[in-house]
Amino acid sequence: SHVTAYRSAILHSIADPALVGVEQSYQYFEDGLLVVEDGRIKALGDAKSLLPSLDSGVRVQEYRDALITPGFIDTHIHFPQTGMIASYGEQLLDWLNTYTFPTERQFADKAHAADVAAIFLKELLRNGTTTALVFGTVHKESVDAFFEAAHALDLRMIAGKVLMDRNAPDYLTDTAESGYADSKELIERWHGKGRLHYAVTPRFAPTSTPEQLELAGKLYGEYPGLYMHTHLSENRKEIEWVKALFPERTGYLDVYDHFKLIGQRSVFAHGVHLCDEECKRLAETGSAVAFCPTSNLFLGSGLFDLEKLEAHGVRVGLGTDVGAGTSFSQLQSLNEAYKVMQLQGKKLDPFKSLYLATLGGARALYLDERIGNLQVGKDADFVVLDYKATPLLDYRLQQASTLAEKLFALTILGDDRTVKETFAAGRSVHQRG
Ligand code: GUN
Ligand code: FE
Repeated sequence: SHVTAYRSAILHSIADPALVGVEQSYQYFEDGLLVVEDGRIKALGDAKSLLPSLDSGVRVQEYRDALITPGFIDTHIHFPQTGMIASYGEQLLDWLNTYTFPTERQFADKAHAADVAAIFLKELLRNGTTTALVFGTVHKESVDAFFEAAHALDLRMIAGKVLMDRNAPDYLTDTAESGYADSKELIERWHGKGRLHYAVTPRFAPTSTPEQLELAGKLYGEYPGLYMHTHLSENRKEIEWVKALFPERTGYLDVYDHFKLIGQRSVFAHGVHLCDEECKRLAETGSAVAFCPTSNLFLGSGLFDLEKLEAHGVRVGLGTDVGAGTSFSQLQSLNEAYKVMQLQGKKLDPFKSLYLATLGGARALYLDERIGNLQVGKDADFVVLDYKATPLLDYRLQQASTLAEKLFALTILGDDRTVKETFAAGRSVHQRG
């Protein structure tokens, strides 16, 4: 077996600050040691107490002016939209028609999909994200290309083919039957292979017929551990459109509920305009919501009410939603999340931020047995953050006296430059140049 140890300051979440209080929500080792064996975490603790127990041959990698944290988890992102990030001027529905659909058309070509998947994964790892829940396009080739690239790096990734059989250009639609059959083929090929998982992925209620949603709900129940991934209550016009298309349902979430597209491992992106009944239903079914601050601000969708969802006990993860989101960096997501809270007269504690980007995401995805923090036995997915990444960060951190202050500055000023190195299953998969 292969053992390596990493000596650095180490910080991870161990519980939700909303449930146990901030002080009980994390563990911090000023001079810590993380021991990794065969891709898993073998030990974590104070360096001085753990070092004597290490076999003499074990290599100890030391980092100074650095902080090891768990790898970041992105609970909502579109890999085919990498090249259309920062597209000007539109809100959701016009943005989809103007930019998104023409961009996604190109993914009928598997070679193009493979090129973009490689760029996308490289960008995730540059930003310290080791697990993501990922939209493909309607083309099954897009998902083959994505999973091939993710499998080669032994990453824990979740993805699925978009289901979309109406209200989109002909070149980008499937049918209820072909969508079901293509998804099933992908599930058989990829779900459970290495660290990969499949997500049944209806784009959103407006682009699927009731027949397609019915078959999607059936498929979601057919294999253990499958995910369901879609959009919900992002934009006011979108919500009105759903009400017009499904007048017999009581609301947007009720459309998904009716077709059995709700429950554990279902993840709804956005949820910006949910009512109390919808929050209650999400909580009681064990469903999760992806909070996507950079996207919600960029598309002018609205301000996510984290405290309301939390009060109902809904599982919440953090998402970038690239290409509507404006950064692959979850540190930048947290920067914008803080401001979304400020605009509502609320706060976002830095340890809550850490939780959202790591263990909270893992809980939203029902993967907290495997990832989300650095507990012994979990996958060795972690990042090394550089306190001296930029002159300004370095100078600001020198003025900080507490860990909370340092962590807060990292979440406001941090980005890809802050990520010195990224590890997945114990292997170094990115080193900053
Ligand atoms: N709703 C339906 N499709 C999309 C998409 O691609 N991005 C976002 N942000 N919302 C959507
Ligand atoms: Fe999205």
